[in-house]
Amino acid sequence: MLSWDDEVTPARAPAPALNPVHAAPAPQPALQSAPSMATASAIGNIPLNPALLNAPADEAQAALQAQRRVNAADKRIINGKTDVNQLVPFKYKWAWDKYLAGCANHWMPQEINMQRDIELWKNPNGLTDDERRLVTRNLGFFVTADSLAANNIVLGTYRHITAPECRQYLLRQAFEEAIHTHAYQYIVESLGLDEAEVFNAYHEVASIRDKDEFLIPFIDTLTNPQFTTGTLENDQALLKSLIVFACLMEGLFFYVGFTQILALGRQNKMMGAAEQYQYILRDESMHCNFGIDLINTIKLENPHLWTSAFREEIKALFLQAVELEYRYAEDTMPRGVLGLNAPMFKGYLRFIANRRAQQIGLDPLFAQEENPFPWMSEMIDLKKERNFFETRVIEYQTGGALNWE
Ligand SMILES: [Fe+2]
Ligand SMILES: [Fe+2]
Repeated sequence: MLSWDDEVTPARAPAPALNPVHAAPAPQPALQSAPSMATASAIGNIPLNPALLNAPADEAQAALQAQRRVNAADKRIINGKTDVNQLVPFKYKWAWDKYLAGCANHWMPQEINMQRDIELWKNPNGLTDDERRLVTRNLGFFVTADSLAANNIVLGTYRHITAPECRQYLLRQAFEEAIHTHAYQYIVESLGLDEAEVFNAYHEVASIRDKDEFLIPFIDTLTNPQFTTGTLENDQALLKSLIVFACLMEGLFFYVGFTQILALGRQNKMMGAAEQYQYILRDESMHCNFGIDLINTIKLENPHLWTSAFREEIKALFLQAVELEYRYAEDTMPRGVLGLNAPMFKGYLRFIANRRAQQIGLDPLFAQEENPFPWMSEMIDLKKERNFFETRVIEYQTGGALNWE
């Protein structure tokens, strides 16, 4: 085993070729001469111009260098052939801006004081049984949901996206998912909940398992090592999985849960958990918006994917997801609690589903639905909203303190 004191013998062989790390390996050009160019060419996946092979060496090298420099106009979100290692020149500035905004919003779960939550939870009269059920079932979904999200990004989506600005955001997003899993674990640990029960809820509680089982085939598509883009069928499969992930998982399946914990916070209960969720909601709003921008840009660059049959398939998935999330609302709130009840969520979920559908260019799925929780909209839609709990929660000032701009 190497230690820091070992003498390092310089390698005699040339450095290995950089792995192009592209989603779909492009055919490598056959080289009859100038083998040293193989590495350079492979980095950008740019086929060699055969005429260059007979040009004088200096001229050929200069021309090759010019040829492999990235032109922003050549970048593509999927199936791109430009070098994914070159972040600039920017083409997808919206992705870079979201990366910067995500970094500016950085926060960590242990920065939030959980003491009052702990006291309330331990007080036998602190919360009703229905409120306790709501909290444990809520965490039962979220403690594993963000791990699914992180795996989906790291093992799936990232490989198939060929725009480095978008990859840069996905790296940030993956870390945010880790922070969210940390936050949920931190709440479970702070309250002294039964960890085995909460972390196994996605196997053992039907309403949670059904949501995850809906998602898993789409995650499997992206994470299957054999799956590559480049055909109509596979590009549509990728787009479908991205829509399920952004619009239905992050954009719909999180919202009963967010609303429940923020409703507790509005009643001065579980304020630490509510603040954690508020930070998570801010991150998730951006994840969802990034995903929608990604989807819409793929549509623009690949209009042939957006067939009427494909749109019908997406609409059916939306309807199925609304139903699953509604069943989760019923299971977590068998009776009215905190001024909330499951039927109120029927309207809310339809309202959100309509909004997500319209954001990706589909018609609304339901007749005009009113939002029964306008206070949630203040947090989600009005980015100017600073801190929803600012008059109730102790302000926590860090570089990443809540600021929706
Ligand atoms: Fe998350
Ligand atoms: Fe997310």
